[in-house]
Amino acid sequence: MVAGQLVIFVGLQAAGKSSFFRERFASTHAHVSKDLMPRAARDKESRQLAQIEQALLIGQPVVVDNTNPRAADRAPLIELARRYEARVVGYFFEPGIQDSLRRNAAREPQVPKVAIFTTAKKLQPPSFEEGFDEIHDVRLAEGGGFSVAQRAR
Ligand SMILES: Nc1ncnc2c1ncn2[C@@H]1O[C@H](COP(=O)(O)OP(=O)(O)O)[C@@H](O)[C@H]1O
Ligand SMILES: [Mg+2]
Repeated sequence: MVAGQLVIFVGLQAAGKSSFFRERFASTHAHVSKDLMPRAARDKESRQLAQIEQALLIGQPVVVDNTNPRAADRAPLIELARRYEARVVGYFFEPGIQDSLRRNAAREPQVPKVAIFTTAKKLQPPSFEEGFDEIHDVRLAEGGGFSVAQRAR
């Protein structure tokens, strides 16, 4: 078994997660996201776990690019990574409801506004207690790009 890496994004819709994936991870990591599944696909959760497991099996580093708002949403992902002795890395996108609403309104496809409010209400920042080996805080930089700070334990 090859030890891999599971990267979990945590952030509101239109926080910049998929853009960050393209900029920082696309050339090295597999991309797992419910947005990449057929719209009508059933049981996206178990499909997602299966895709992650396929990557972990061959030691392919993998990013889970969803909102992943609650610790309970992340727990099964972390448990799976642990089973494969993979490193668990979190990226927390600074939540800004107004910023997300504005960016969402300017893109296609848009999510309903209420989805952003619902996610904001559920949002629990990632913590080391959940099992993350590393946590990074991400902010969108002025004029494009991202600024990333690794959190101290
Ligand atoms: N660093 C950035 N600065 C400004 N706008 C950005 C930045 N990154 C992404 N965006 C814009 O924000 C919107 C949402 O980005 P996206 O990556 O699709 O977010 P998410 O995957 O979190 O829903 C897009 O229109 C994108 O072009
Ligand atoms: Mg996205």
